Amino acid sequence: MIKSIAVAGKGGTGKTTIAALILNCLLKKSSGPILVIDADPDANLGFLLGIKVEQTLGDIREEMLEEIKNFPAGMDKNQYIEAGLHQILEEAKGFDLLTMGRGEGSGCYCYLNSLVRKFADDLIPMYRWIVMDNEAGLEHISRRTTSNVDVLFVVVNENPLSIETARSIEKITRGMERDIGKKFIITNKVKPERLEKIRENIKDIGIEYLGDVPPDEKLEEMIFNGESLLNLNDSPSLNSVCKIIDTVLSRENVSV
Ligand SMILES: Nc1ncnc2c1ncn2[C@@H]1O[C@H](COP(=O)(O)OP(=O)(O)O)[C@@H](O)[C@H]1O
Ligand SMILES: [Mg+2]
Repeated sequence: MIKSIAVAGKGGTGKTTIAALILNCLLKKSSGPILVIDADPDANLGFLLGIKVEQTLGDIREEMLEEIKNFPAGMDKNQYIEAGLHQILEEAKGFDLLTMGRGEGSGCYCYLNSLVRKFADDLIPMYRWIVMDNEAGLEHISRRTTSNVDVLFVVVNENPLSIETARSIEKITRGMERDIGKKFIITNKVKPERLEKIRENIKDIGIEYLGDVPPDEKLEEMIFNGESLLNLNDSPSLNSVCKIIDTVLSRENVSV
């Protein structure tokens, strides 16, 4: 079953935008609850979804570590941390948003990381879908601070370096089939006349190409105006993302 869908790729390729559009498609298509995870330290998925993120996990991490140091013996640290994690879960219509925020400082976070992982593991069964926006390097996936991914979209745009990032993502994730089920490349915001050449250049990466998300003025206008991408309807980028999602789900025989 496909449950978690993640987006990766070089900075600026459109990961966050595409994650927001995937959420838009799933909300229109499926009635199940959705957990959206913004795992990019430069967190801005909330903004594209019209949510003002008050606190990230990174914001409260130090605070929690400090608190648990001074905890009296016999008091439940885990419960305290779980309450803290619940507090940063933003509840919206049809989905919840968890914003990871900045990565770790110099302290030892092993204990906290394992609790975050447990928190995520406990949360995940409560949702039908998980949509995850990633940092470019996928470090947290290799660190295993986030849960498994069933479908990973690697975004490539007109920047030739984005193809190199796709190549390195393929390398990092090779042999991680248990953690990352299926990988697909999608192109984004590419001029039609350049698409053929880019498709040629990604052929040897070893990740299947699944489709293109065209440049979309209506989308750009909405972002410029600070409007939630969940209000986008029937526009070229959204239609393409929804078609890509449909293709993946129908291939895997997933009903929504
Ligand atoms: N299909 C598209 N059409 C028009 N503009 C787009 C499209 N995809 C992304 N953009 C714009 O490109 C910029 C980078 O997108 P973003 O999603 O922030 O990339 P990333 O998360 O990979 O860094 C943003 O300004 C966004 O508005
Ligand atoms: Mg981003």
